[in-house]
Amino acid sequence: MVRLSWKTMAIPGLALLVVGLIGFAINAIAEAGQTPYERSVLSFKGNVSTGQDLFEANCSACHGTEAKGWVGPNLEEVKERKSDLQLIRQVTRGETPPMPKFELNEKQMADLLSYLKSI
Ligand code: HEC
Repeated sequence: MVRLSWKTMAIPGLALLVVGLIGFAINAIAEAGQTPYERSVLSFKGNVSTGQDLFEANCSACHGTEAKGWVGPNLEEVKERKSDLQLIRQVTRGETPPMPKFELNEKQMADLLSYLKSI
């Protein structure tokens, strides 16, 4: 039988801890950089059904009516890939052309975000 010393166990454990702490720090820095608009969006509890209407009006031409992808990628389970803040920035900053930049008010963005997290 292979005997695992505490050192063999401790090294991967410590490595995981360090990776976790770095991830936490990066996240904390990103969160601290929130604009007042982003903070306000995150303070609303979005309405999924209003968000879906907004999606159909603004996004479905590229992402498909059910968000399964067309010109733009399939957005199902996008919440697994992107944080709330990243989703807000994806929609409002226009940093990934051809996807345009959208100007939604805080409540609308919160509704859209809750829809994006529901699919
Ligand atoms: C003109 C077409 C177009 C429209 C309209 C559009 N998108 Fe996009 N979207 C794209 C393209 C293309 C990408 C891929 C960009 C890239 O990462 O290079 C993308 C990427 C995304 C992503 C990131 C996907 C991922 O897997 O990380 C999200 C989220 C997203 N769009 C949401 C939206 C929402 C919400 C709307 C409506 C408010 C919208 N998009 C409107 C074309 C569009």
